[in-house]
Amino acid sequence: MEDPELRRSIVALGMVGDVALDGSDVRVEIKLTVAGCPLKAEIQRRVGDAVGAVSGVERVNVVMDAMSDQERLALRSGLEGGVGHASPFAEEGSGTRVIAVASGKGGVGKSSLTANLAVALTRTGASVGLLDADVYGYSIPRMMGVSRRAVMVEDLMMPVDAHGVRLMSVGFMTSDDNPVIWRGPMLHKALTSFVSDVFWDDPDYLLVDLPPGTGDVPLSIAQLLPKASMLVVTTPQLAAQRVARRAAAMAERVDIPVAGVVENMSWFVAPDTGARYEVFSGGGGEQLAGELGVPLLGRVPLEPDVALAGDAGVPVVARSPDSEAATALLGIAESLTAVIRPA
Ligand SMILES: Nc1ncnc2c1ncn2[C@@H]1O[C@H](COP(=O)(O)OP(=O)(O)OP(=O)(O)O)[C@@H](O)[C@H]1O
Ligand SMILES: [Mg+2]
Repeated sequence: MEDPELRRSIVALGMVGDVALDGSDVRVEIKLTVAGCPLKAEIQRRVGDAVGAVSGVERVNVVMDAMSDQERLALRSGLEGGVGHASPFAEEGSGTRVIAVASGKGGVGKSSLTANLAVALTRTGASVGLLDADVYGYSIPRMMGVSRRAVMVEDLMMPVDAHGVRLMSVGFMTSDDNPVIWRGPMLHKALTSFVSDVFWDDPDYLLVDLPPGTGDVPLSIAQLLPKASMLVVTTPQLAAQRVARRAAAMAERVDIPVAGVVENMSWFVAPDTGARYEVFSGGGGEQLAGELGVPLLGRVPLEPDVALAGDAGVPVVARSPDSEAATALLGIAESLTAVIRPA
């Protein structure tokens, strides 16, 4: 059995303590990395199920305990990364393809697309990380249905697993009543920490949800993730030329190539009549892609389900995979794998 967050065998991690047999009764001691581990019940249940499935075992008693400082240090030293380490994604041998999701304007659906594309990419069998770089206006925790804090193993942060995606967000560090007020250098430090001090474990893809606008965050991200490609999100009615100029200016400033464009909120299908409305005329996605000289990877309809799913913490590709929006999103994930620059 694997630890849900470390994704290593719990035996190899030194989490299994004494195992005692008494006839067909088994008593297993599990040592958690931290006593208050939020995954305690989950681990207890999984161990109970795994041991209970062994033939001849009738009763399983899983005793939950915590590691000693020494045991935790031993576990920690077996995991790469942590404070003082350079960005693992900047290394020559890194096999991770990094995709930063940006737009020239706020509220166009960057976070919704990032969350859905991350889940969609896991469907191809890939391992996927999602870095929420929207430090002030983070929305990934809610969209992915996570309301708990991240676990630390010594100086190393464990990404939170949701819908098969490994997530890191400021939302896992603070409570809502404590808004983050980080400026310039602190902001860069926080993002550095999110890249280097997190046990990302070499995912196949790392998606980055950028904040709206062209402030300091994209610059930091570009430094920390030099192999990134940018995905630009737009809506049909946005004046393509203006958005293109802004997106291109940002891409140039931070030296990240644009891999493609996604148009969101493209059309609406009336649920009662089935009539299809191109709500905003304009073809903004196609124009923008043309201006930037990159492919339009797809168009996503405006669908109440997308917003509802986001509010419910289950992205629409997981909640209603057969919906028109989910179908479009799954298709975009597919196209994305083809245009993203190899790691
Ligand atoms: N295709 C869609 N259909 C319906 N609602 C959508 C769709 N895409 C996004 N939304 C909704 O629009 C709102 C804005 O989306 P989202 O937060 O993803 O945008 P954003 O670009 O990340 O915003 P910000 O710039 O503030 O970070 C959310 O309420 C979301 O649920
Ligand atoms: Mg957002």
